[in-house]
Amino acid sequence: MVSPQPSLLSAPPAHPLIAPSVIAGDFANAAQDAADALAAGADLLHLDVMDGHFVPNLTLGPDYCRCLRRALPGAYLDVHLMVADPARFIPPFAAAGANHISFHLEAVEPEAIEPLIAKIRSLGVAAGLVINPPTAAESLLPFVHLPDLVLIMSVNPGFSGQAFIPSALDKARLIRPRLRPHQRLQVDGGVSPANARLVREAGFDVLVAGSALMSRPSAERPSIVASLKGLGRVR
Ligand code: DX5
Ligand code: ZN
Repeated sequence: MVSPQPSLLSAPPAHPLIAPSVIAGDFANAAQDAADALAAGADLLHLDVMDGHFVPNLTLGPDYCRCLRRALPGAYLDVHLMVADPARFIPPFAAAGANHISFHLEAVEPEAIEPLIAKIRSLGVAAGLVINPPTAAESLLPFVHLPDLVLIMSVNPGFSGQAFIPSALDKARLIRPRLRPHQRLQVDGGVSPANARLVREAGFDVLVAGSALMSRPSAERPSIVASLKGLGRVR
């Protein structure tokens, strides 16, 4: 059994890391579909957890995470909580094998942010802090030193397949210089080979890819991953 890589996000990557969003893939063949994306060169799996309250959609819960962990013991599982009460779902996702859990700044009181990050870490899991498109990047500044990863949403969360919102690029330019080498800067929503260069140049080093990768046939995925990383031609 290949052991998970808890340190995957803690060192600056030579090339941006690619995180396929599994909700854009084939739920009926989830493990095979996720394994195929990793075999295509992707680095970690992004699990979008939606509760129908914080966002207008329902997706997956801890049991899905547990099944994916069992099927893919070596995969790095990045759980993105889009839920109204993240504290409630952190322990079950940690128990289900998550390597990383991100929660939204908009979902909690400011004074809860540091304790929640500490709670996630106490469970042996890396922690991420997320902002939505309407939230100013300046809102992150008091907390930017705390998480292992900052996630700047480039769509309003809820669904795959939406258009990239360019203001995420300016937010990245503000936040990137304030991060230390062990901290990652992730972008999520509407990322594709067509805008990946702009995204990379703005300072993002973990790129979530939903429909641009997971809605494409297996045979196309290696070249899409290479394009996202800046290693291939722009498609
Ligand atoms: C949006 C989710 C994203 C989404 C990305 O609410 O957080 O992770 O699945 O999908 P694309 O890349 O299609 O925007
Ligand atoms: Zn996401």
